[in-house]
Amino acid sequence: DLPARVRIHEVGARDGLQNEKATVPTQVKAEFVHRLASAGLTTIEATSFVHPKWVPQLADAEALFPLLQDIEPRPHLPVLVPNERGLDRALALGARRVAVFASATESFAKANLNRTVDEALAMFEPVVTRAKEGRAHVRGYLSMCFGDPWEGAVPVHQVVRVAKALMDMGCDELSLGDTIGVATPGHVQTLLAELNEEGVPTNAIGVHFHDTYGQALSNTLAALQHGVTTVDASAGGLGGCPYAKSATGNLATEDLVWMLSGLGIETGVDLGRLTATSAWMAEQLGRPSPSRTVRALVKT
Ligand code: HMG
Ligand code: MG
Repeated sequence: DLPARVRIHEVGARDGLQNEKATVPTQVKAEFVHRLASAGLTTIEATSFVHPKWVPQLADAEALFPLLQDIEPRPHLPVLVPNERGLDRALALGARRVAVFASATESFAKANLNRTVDEALAMFEPVVTRAKEGRAHVRGYLSMCFGDPWEGAVPVHQVVRVAKALMDMGCDELSLGDTIGVATPGHVQTLLAELNEEGVPTNAIGVHFHDTYGQALSNTLAALQHGVTTVDASAGGLGGCPYAKSATGNLATEDLVWMLSGLGIETGVDLGRLTATSAWMAEQLGRPSPSRTVRALVKT
């Protein structure tokens, strides 16, 4: 049985733009988020309050976030925070949704957070506790759930251990990241079943696929068949990860919406407005969108 409705967690402005070589002007980012909202997206990950030297593309978080407060109706605007310093910066601007981001592998924990897996979890603990005390919503990302560029295949039990640690800490939801896009549908269903077995309910789980091997949509369908209703995607398929070289763009939101609407699953997204937004963003970035759906629908 497939769900009647899917909640799209739009990550283009964060996961997408963090990986662009050229720094996108703050005003362009603000317009991007406004356009995404007017296309009907209700959860739009806005930026990251990380160290500006680690992700220079998002160093303008303080300037950008206030420019998003006048959007009507107001979307959820989650932001990434790796530590208490990041949380302080986000809360100072009134952020109501934050995300910590753990790794299932030691190699990526080191590359992305300069920490071991357990040191990173210890860094997140006070972030989650304080965010929950302030009644903020907390998402826990978990990267390298299916494969890692340095370590190869990632054992399911290793993923489950860190997933449970994030949930035990108090995260409201978990996003399973296929950071380098190597997952296949059977692997997705195996991991979801194992997480359920270990007490993580499907309704707390979102999926975050990158499309490196063209499997992102198939993996999404496998997750929907398992009962997942939260799917991460980036408009126009923007994205990657600066600390995982083999990562390409996320599942394109347009490709996702095309499949879901064909299945009669509601998203609230206006595909025409969304593709127009991605075409506009592609122009700003000076290169075509990798999304098949954007290319099919937009005359260039
Ligand atoms: P570190 O170098 O170990 O930092 O980096 P530190 O804790 O030793 O602090 C060093 C200095 O940085 C201090 O300043 C801190 O105040 C400052 P000093 O006292 O020396 O003057 N600092 C900060 N400044 C501003 N904002 C902050 C902050 N934190 C410390 N938040 C750190 C550790 C975690 C900070 C660094 O590794 C970092 O920022 N990493 C972020 C990497 C990142 O954003 N990666 C991309 C997101 S993850 C992703 O894309 C995957 C995902 O999409 C899912 C998937 O696909 O799998 C989510
Ligand atoms: Mg990602």
